[in-house]
Amino acid sequence: MKPLRVQPLRLDGPDEAAKREEIRQAFHATFSLDESVFEHLANTSAWFDKPIALRLPLIFYFGHTATFYINKLVVAGILPDHLDGRLESMFAVGVDEMSWDDLDDSHYDWPAVEEVRAYRQRVRDTVDQVIRELPLSLPIRWDSRWWAVLMAIEHENIHLETSSVLVRQSPLDRVRPLAAFAPEAPDDRPAPPNVLIPVAGGRVRLGKERDDPRYGWDNEYGIHEETLQDFEASRYLVSNGEYRPFVDGGGYRDERWWTDEGWRWRHFAGAEHPTFWVMRDGAWLLRLLAEERPMPWSWPVEVNFHEVAAFCRWKSAAMGQALRPPTEVEWRRLRDLADLPDSDAWTEAPAQIGLAYGASPCPVDRFAHGDWYDVVGNVWQWTTTPMHPFDGFQVHPYYDDFTVPTFDQQHNLIKGGSFISLGNETQREARYAFRPHFFQHAGFRYVRSDNPLLEVPAYETDPTAAQNCDAHYGPESFGVPNYPEAVAKLALAALAGRPAQRALDVGSGAGRLAFELARVVPDVTGLDFSARIIQVGVALQQRGRHPYAVVDEGELTTQRWADIVALGLDQVADRVQFVQGDPCNLKPNLRRYDLVTAANVLDQLREPATFLAEMAGRVNPGGLLVVSAPYDWQEAVTPKSEWIGGFKKDGETYTTLDGLKSILAPHFRLLPGFPCDVPYVFRETGRTYRHGIAEATVWERVEG
Ligand SMILES: [Fe+2]
Repeated sequence: MKPLRVQPLRLDGPDEAAKREEIRQAFHATFSLDESVFEHLANTSAWFDKPIALRLPLIFYFGHTATFYINKLVVAGILPDHLDGRLESMFAVGVDEMSWDDLDDSHYDWPAVEEVRAYRQRVRDTVDQVIRELPLSLPIRWDSRWWAVLMAIEHENIHLETSSVLVRQSPLDRVRPLAAFAPEAPDDRPAPPNVLIPVAGGRVRLGKERDDPRYGWDNEYGIHEETLQDFEASRYLVSNGEYRPFVDGGGYRDERWWTDEGWRWRHFAGAEHPTFWVMRDGAWLLRLLAEERPMPWSWPVEVNFHEVAAFCRWKSAAMGQALRPPTEVEWRRLRDLADLPDSDAWTEAPAQIGLAYGASPCPVDRFAHGDWYDVVGNVWQWTTTPMHPFDGFQVHPYYDDFTVPTFDQQHNLIKGGSFISLGNETQREARYAFRPHFFQHAGFRYVRSDNPLLEVPAYETDPTAAQNCDAHYGPESFGVPNYPEAVAKLALAALAGRPAQRALDVGSGAGRLAFELARVVPDVTGLDFSARIIQVGVALQQRGRHPYAVVDEGELTTQRWADIVALGLDQVADRVQFVQGDPCNLKPNLRRYDLVTAANVLDQLREPATFLAEMAGRVNPGGLLVVSAPYDWQEAVTPKSEWIGGFKKDGETYTTLDGLKSILAPHFRLLPGFPCDVPYVFRETGRTYRHGIAEATVWERVEG
């Protein structure tokens, strides 16, 4: 048995000098291993031509991992300045491959390989010196400057893996085999027949504590718990042999098996079989890093998530039972039952992982883990679960765009690690996610399971919705109290012993005011024109917390949580129902309210008078209508003919309050003490805030 090529680092230890040396060794080993992958490249075009249209040429990745060290050491305040501004700008950020047809046509004037090699040596020397000299106290914490060093080492582990995929995707005449990355010995056995094995359900807990003694990426921290029912999981990963009937049976040409997006991808890519399968002279071969060999049918098939989903549909039809890829939590249940320690405790590799046994997959029946094989290692395993934040997620300030852009429900989690995974990638809590069309050394197993798929909240990045979240749940600014809460308090105080069974909040947005009313009123309806924004309130009811991103400046954002648990509103959240509707055209069933609130809605309506006139039929006698608004009339929103005030009438000033009195007068009386001012501050960016002073009026519905 063999150890991993580079062991995962721990953050703790008794001896600072020894830890410093351990990190230094890990740095050099990782830096060298990454460089050695590029020795596969046999000619200039291997370095400078893109292996696939969607990624940059390999020269970029050769520079990028080195640049990352410098950039992060500068961000962490360890280095005062950059080494080479030109290269560090060029190599800073890769293509964010948003879509399979999102071709990158930018042209770069790449430096020569030797220039980048020399730059890498300067980076190596610089980082070595930093590791030797930077003050160290153990354990290393998330807010320690050493985090930047570990982050850059782990970042290089990720790119070791993705660069090896690009080598594998390069034309064969551009690469040469290397002894250091020799694959497994050939294997001509047929694939073992796969079977479903029962998995006992149970409580599964994912996520790291902040003081976990192992480095983690930001998305690993926090807590996520689910209770699983019993299910079944395939004993083996799906092998090339098991996948073959899907290919031979025309699965790639049968639209029935594919999702809409998968089918579009298949057409665009012209895929007829897995990407590393090669048909030559009537025989199937498998492309490895730098060679082709007769198809090892017993090895796991390597496919993207579109292919995984299509195969599962096809196999379900063939077997007459519903199969699908596992969720992240179902994978973790196997991991827990497999009774393997976490990888920092391994003295030898219990799987095809960490380059311990070869730079290729191996037969799917070699490494048993409990009742299954390859629960870790061999190839990554696609799950159905999109990347999502655990409760308590925080962005790491040194790398704020590592995870957040993947909270888009377009990135599926992969688990378990591959034959070339090192460091954090081998850890139990590791979470990496890729777009469904993306190729890694990744395959899958299937499950038969009645466990529900996790409904993942979309990370609120829409600027309007996110601003609304922040106005409702964000921190107070400039000492001005939270506005929806202030209006709710004002309304509840005005009730003063009146019956309060039913309330309606018009323009409820992200739901704060409706939730606040529910502290007192047992039946609250939040109504908003935007179905999208209503989803925030619904998500908060379901999960208690909802992530959103606010703009700091330009494209820079900060992640925050809307959190009704912290506000104590989760106890009353189920008293609220959210409905989509037009305040100017309310549905007939919305009536018999003891309280109607409309905060910063009036001047946003197309026909405010229509809305106000409707209130007589909606509010119970003795009930209250609360209107709070800054009377900020805009012709683009409300045609001037519909303004209820804010103009000269018969030569005299006619305010919105005059208009309110006029429209509401027959059925409402203005309570004493009103109008009053209610200030608000809404954050637009980190440096721009909108400060308004709404005028609040409370109207009592009078009999008749
Ligand atoms: Fe990167």
